Parts: sequence; structure tokens; C-alpha cells
Amino acid sequence: MTAPADRTRSSEELIRAEEPVLAQNYHPLPVVVARAEGAWVEDVEGRRYLDMLAGYSALNFGHRHPALIEAAHRQLDRLTLTSRAFHNDRLASFATGLAALTGQDMVLPMNTGAEAVESGIKVARKWAYEVKGVPDGRATIVVAADNFHGRTTTIVGFSTDETARSGFGPFTPGFRVVPYNDLAALRAAVDDTTAAVLIEPIQGEAGVIVPDDGYLTGVRELTQRANCLFVADEIQSGLGRTGRTLAVEHESVVPDLVLLGKALGGGIVPVSAVVGRREVLGVLRPGEHGSTFGGNPLAAAVGTAVVELLRTGEFQRRARELGVVLREGLTALLGKGVVGFRARGLWAGVDVDPALGTGREVSERLMREGILVKDTHGSTIRLAPPLTVTEDELRQALGTLEKVLAA
Ligand SMILES: Cc1ncc(COP(=O)(O)O)c(C=O)c1O
Repeated sequence: MTAPADRTRSSEELIRAEEPVLAQNYHPLPVVVARAEGAWVEDVEGRRYLDMLAGYSALNFGHRHPALIEAAHRQLDRLTLTSRAFHNDRLASFATGLAALTGQDMVLPMNTGAEAVESGIKVARKWAYEVKGVPDGRATIVVAADNFHGRTTTIVGFSTDETARSGFGPFTPGFRVVPYNDLAALRAAVDDTTAAVLIEPIQGEAGVIVPDDGYLTGVRELTQRANCLFVADEIQSGLGRTGRTLAVEHESVVPDLVLLGKALGGGIVPVSAVVGRREVLGVLRPGEHGSTFGGNPLAAAVGTAVVELLRTGEFQRRARELGVVLREGLTALLGKGVVGFRARGLWAGVDVDPALGTGREVSERLMREGILVKDTHGSTIRLAPPLTVTEDELRQALGTLEKVLAA
């Protein structure tokens, strides 16, 4: 690690200083990170931790990947923001590269994941009115129970998590919720008003829920037959995490719209995008949608460097190969504190025996042993290391998990 950390205040002091002035919408683990490199972070006191969360997949290439840092530095020295009132000389290559990487025609650049989801919803509705011919104001979108698509009021309105929804209504109408991984329920919910089916190919926040083989193919066939769009939220599952560029590629499925975010910004800047077919994204006309920062030159430069890293296929290959190590390691822990797990590529939801503690308690014990993870619901913890993690580091994390569960 290069730049030294600022050690003027201790972790404890910094945590205490946050409390009165920061909105308490998070409950972070009590670790104060001061610098990082690759798969490792260091706290204010100089203690090192293996990052097995990777910013919920925003750090797929690890902390401060040299190619991404260099692209950002180079761009910082030239041009950072124009707004879309003008063109900038970085956006064309970003859009061309991202469309080619994902096998789509067009790109709508935004910033955060939730904005990409909101944008996808708007595009799907507009497509339904202009192309499908749904009567004005009647378009519906079918979503899955236990979804996580972000935190805006429209999005939490169709969440089934009461903590995310409660106290934030009234909500945007026009959404139908069906159980995930249930094609019959989906078929029953789709009708002439349906603009789109919006799902995560793997439900991350729900605990890395991998649907049955054939589900995504079924969603593709069903939406095609019903003349509605398949919108895949790949904000967490996409960009190498599962061993493919997109998780839908495991079933060779091509959605009409793909939502990307997190790793698209290389862990440096927020970059998200809707990518899709020309017939769909082409419904947007000047003035109908936008974002001051969407497609800014710094974001486009970093995003282009991300696309170049993914074009090598190296990260997808690492996720596939190390995914085998992860799966084997977790299988060996079944009955030794682990009661179940779901995994694809370098991504796993691990159900810990509730008798051994909540997911939060296990995460805190792992933190004290130098491993950073995050719990989801109940006794589930999520593992999503940077795709640059080495096999030794991964085995170290699995060994520490075994030790913590045995203690
Ligand atoms: C599948 C999915 N969609 C959307 C989002 C929202 O992204 P953001 O937090 O950047 O708004 C997330 C974030 O965790 C996500 O996992």
C-alpha cells in the first residue's frame, strides 16, 4: 500500500464522532478502513483484513486496481465533467465497448444502481405505450418477491421487505409481485398490460438465491410469447462475479434490457447503465430522461477501463476456477456450523447454524480474526471477495470461517 493512513484519531474516536452527525441508516461493522490494496484493507490502527465483501461486488477488480487507478488519474488531469449539454470525448468509446461486451445495441449511462433500475422502469413503460400499445397509464411490471433493486420510493414500493418499505409510502402503482423461481406464477401474472418482467438472475440481498436451471430460459420464452420485455438486474450479479460477464449467460439468455452498476465504476466512481436493444432504448427522445453526472468523462474513462479488463476474460475465468475452491470449502463445512449454502462463481450465501449466533455475530467474530464479510437476513452471511483474490487468500478465509464456527 502506498499512501500512509491518517492516524490522528483512533477507530473508536472516529466511530463515536460519526454518531451524532450521520443519519443512522446503516449498522456497519465496527472497523474503520483507512487504506486498501487488492483484496486487503487496513484500519486506522494498521490492522489488516481480507475483504470478502468487495463493496457488494462494486470492487470486483479489487481495491485500487492499477489499470483503473491509472485511467482515473489520466482523466482527472484532462476533463472531469461536461454534463450532457455537450458531448465529451470519452463517452463514445465507453458506450461502444459496453454494448459490445454485453451483446446489446445501446447504452443509457447513469450513476447509481437504483437510477439504472428507475431508468429501466421508465423505458419499459414508454416501450409498452409506444410499441406494445398498452392503454395510457395502465402499464404493469412484474417483479419477484424478496427482490432488492435499490432504495428509491418507486423501488421500495415493490419490495417485500417491510423494513425497506414501512413508513415510506404512498408508493408508485403498477407493480405485481410473484414468487421468485416460479414460472407458473409468472405466467399467471403476465397479461396485455405487462410492460416487463424485472428480476435479478441471482437474488443477492435475499441471500444469493440461485434459481433452478431453466428458470431464466423460461422467463425469456414467456416474455417473448407475451410480448413484454425481460429486464435483468445484473447490478450485483454482473461483470464477472458469477464466472461469466453476465449471470444470464449461464443459460445463454439475452434479455431486452440489462441493468448494470457497482463494478462498472471500478470501485472508484459511481457508474451505472441500462444496456439494451435499439427497438427498446430507442424509445427515449431528448428531454425525456437524463442525469447531470450520467456519462461524465471521468465515469466513462473508468468504465471503459473496466470494460477492457472484462474483455480479457481473465476475471470471469478466475471467478469460475476459484468458485470451485469456494464451493468445495463450503461443502466441507456442512454440518460443521454451516447448515446450507448457495454459490455461483465467487459469490456465496452461507447459512450458519442459528445456534452459533446471528449472521451479524458471526461477521463480528470473523472481523476480529481479520476477515470482513456482511450478514444478510437472519443467520446468513455473504461471501463475495474481489475476483483478484488468490487461492491462498480464499483458503485462508474459509479456514478462518471454520475456526470461528468451531469456537
Ligand atoms: C441487484 C441490485 N440492484 C440494485 C441495487 C442498487 O444499487 P445502488 O445501491 O448503487 O443504488 C443493488 C444494490 O445492492 C443490487 O444489489
